[in-house]
This record gives sequence, C-alpha cells and structure tokens, in this order.
Amino acid sequence: MPKAIVSPSVLASDFGQLTAECKRMIKGGAEWLHMDVMDGHFVPNITMGKYYTLPAFTMSRAMTVPPQAPRFCHVYLKWVNDIADAGGALYCFHIEATSDPISLIHAIHERKMRAGVAISPDTPSTAIKDEVAEIADMLLVMTVYPGRGGQKFLERCVPKVAELRARFPDKDIEVDGGVGPKTIDVCAEAGSNVIVAGTAIFNASDPEAVIALLKERVNT
Ligand code: DX5
Ligand code: ZN
Repeated sequence: MPKAIVSPSVLASDFGQLTAECKRMIKGGAEWLHMDVMDGHFVPNITMGKYYTLPAFTMSRAMTVPPQAPRFCHVYLKWVNDIADAGGALYCFHIEATSDPISLIHAIHERKMRAGVAISPDTPSTAIKDEVAEIADMLLVMTVYPGRGGQKFLERCVPKVAELRARFPDKDIEVDGGVGPKTIDVCAEAGSNVIVAGTAIFNASDPEAVIALLKERVNT
C-alpha cells in the first residue's frame, strides 16, 4: 500500500486567518491541504467557489506560503482551468457529476495536475470503471454525503475502500468525511492511505498529535 498522506480539510479552519491555519497544518506534519470547492448544484452549499468572496485564487495564495507543500483541490464541476490557474496540484471530481470522466482526466493532466475520482456514499465502487481508474492518480471514497464538515462517519462506505484497494494495490485511495482517531482504523485496514480530516484535526487541542496518529495508523 502506498504511504500515508494526511490532508487536513481547511473547510474546518478559521477562514479569517487562512494563511496562518494552512501554515499551522504544514508545520504540524500534514502532507497535503484539502480544499472543498462546492458549487451550489451538486451539493447545496457553496464554499470557495469561483464567485464566492473567498475564491480559490485567494486560497491558492495562502497555500503558496509553504511552496513545498502539495496542494489539493476537491471540486465538483469542470473548473479545471480556474483551479490550475489558482495553483491546484490535484483536482478531484465526483464521478456522479460528469458524463465523460476520461476527457476530464485528460484535461486535468494537460494542466499538469493530478486527477482524482470521488464517489458519494450511495455510489458503488464499480461506478469507477477500470479504464477510468487506471488513468486516475487517486480514488476517493466519501464517508459522508458531500456538502459540509462535521458529519458522522458512515462505516457502510468502508467496504468500497477494500474493493478498490483489491483492484488497485498501488493507487492512492482517499477517505473523506468524519475521519479521525476514532474511525481511522477501519479506513486503514480497508486500505486507505490518503486521509482527509477536518474537524478532527482543526478542533483538536493538539492537531499535530492527531496528524501523527492518523499517519501512524495507516503506516503500521
Ligand atoms: C464534505 C467535505 C469534507 C469535510 C470533512 O463535503 O468533502 O472534506 O470538510 O470534514 P470532517 O472531517 O469534519 O467530516
Ligand atoms: Zn472534501
């Protein structure tokens, strides 16, 4: 299994001091930063969308503070150029939100970003066809319904991680939603190596310790 990557979801951070929050995560051991770009269509909420007061561009400038830190974007619509221009390093889209995932992955790669494919809780792992998964750089199993942070972890989604790990032993497989010290073990055992956590990290008194714990559980 590929090594552990912890990716704090900045959705749970203090947007009023975003740069400091991102720096704090990188200093605390996070490999990536996870940004939920919600569009108001696929999910009812809007976060840091193109026309929002905190657009991805601003987010990206915050990310450039630690230039060595890979950046991560998790978006629901075809905003490839906007996200690439903003400095995104990985563009993850929902399989349910596109009819042509292969063209989308090619477009993402053309803009020199890595491509991720996400599935919602009610979508089976088989919705990610071999020909799509093979050219994707990462597969994401949502463990809550996309739309907001702080939701309860849906353990029934975990078998999909194991199914994807069996099909793709060497690929990055991510979990996102309700993941923290109490739920990491089932994710790691199923074969997830990229761990997104929002509230579990940002609300912790010692975020550094939580990041270290998540990583250790994946790597052991
Ligand atoms: C949900 C988002 C998640 C969310 C995770 O739509 O995709 O990234 O921020 O937050 P927690 O870890 O609090 O469930
Ligand atoms: Zn997310």
